[in-house]
Amino acid sequence: MKQLDDTFPCTAREIEIAATLIRSGGVVAFPTETVYGLGADARNDQAVRRIFQIKGRPADHPLIVHLASLDELESWAQDIPEDAFRLADAFWPGPLTLVLHKKPEVPDVVTGGQSSVAVRAPAHPVALALIRETGGLAAPSANRFGRISPTRAEHVHAELGEKVDGVLDGGPCAVGVESTIVSLLEEPVVLRPGGVTVIAIERILGHRVQVRDSYAKVRTPGNLPAHYAPRTPLELLPADVLWQRTLALSRMGRRVAVMTVGAAPWERYELTGIHCVVMPAEAEAYAQRLYADLRALDAAGFDALLMQTPPDEPEWLAVRDRLQRASYSTGRS
Ligand code: TXA
Ligand code: MG
Repeated sequence: MKQLDDTFPCTAREIEIAATLIRSGGVVAFPTETVYGLGADARNDQAVRRIFQIKGRPADHPLIVHLASLDELESWAQDIPEDAFRLADAFWPGPLTLVLHKKPEVPDVVTGGQSSVAVRAPAHPVALALIRETGGLAAPSANRFGRISPTRAEHVHAELGEKVDGVLDGGPCAVGVESTIVSLLEEPVVLRPGGVTVIAIERILGHRVQVRDSYAKVRTPGNLPAHYAPRTPLELLPADVLWQRTLALSRMGRRVAVMTVGAAPWERYELTGIHCVVMPAEAEAYAQRLYADLRALDAAGFDALLMQTPPDEPEWLAVRDRLQRASYSTGRS
């Protein structure tokens, strides 16, 4: 993972104000290394309820509790298996969320009434400074339900600005996709691929782990809603059909934008006046840019976004997962 830049735009005074707001039941957006979070005091039912209202999120979707360090884990979870300490030791602070048995006093509004709780310590100096002041922060990504997660403070301002009590600016997020979620309720299972690769997790645990679709348990796959989705229809296409599809849509008079993985033969797009974004050929760099670039294309008023399918390799798992969900609403993989 990239090193965090320790120059960030917000001041200690702003963090102090945000902490005061949160302690009095406010909802404040804050930076993490993955995406911006929409935070409230995880012990304050009323405040946590406001998060759901602001996002337009169904109440049965549980939130992650953000901690400042491993030392706080036992205030939120119980019957913690050895694997949890191993993983937290290796990856915290960082983009790894652990699902564990919750302490009885963790509010139902945070866990969606489940007996488990999701926890992580984010690797961002602003987030850590804030949490040290407030205690555990319940926070989903700071976007409207189903839309693209924000990776810059201006994304939060644009989407939720008026509705929140504050937005802390910590600069662009270094990882750019959400944390990896691992359930340790039984055998370790990856519920959502993310900032920590499955290979890295397997290396720490010393064995293979299962990867499961995070929504398979609650909904049938056929009903999977669009998630991480731009408003513009998005199609995910292998390199060899990308150009043909671009031409076909252009012939029909559609304004299309194309995103390639690496410098695939993009000159032909450029030559024909088709807007083409050449994304990095390396997974971490691609992930870091993805959401900001998708937002920009979405705002530019194209009729369709055509994206080259990233390689079917382990380090691309999180990116492929997000793109598949983003393209789902169009009915094309
Ligand atoms: O990187 C991240 O994880 C970001 C930053 C802000 O930390 N947060 C984030 O939160 O992506 P959100 O709410 O957008 O996604 C959290 C996911 C949801 O899919 C939720 O269902 C799952 O975590 N989750 C939370 N608690 C859970 C639990 N007890 N069991 C299973 N899944 C859980
Ligand atoms: Mg989210």
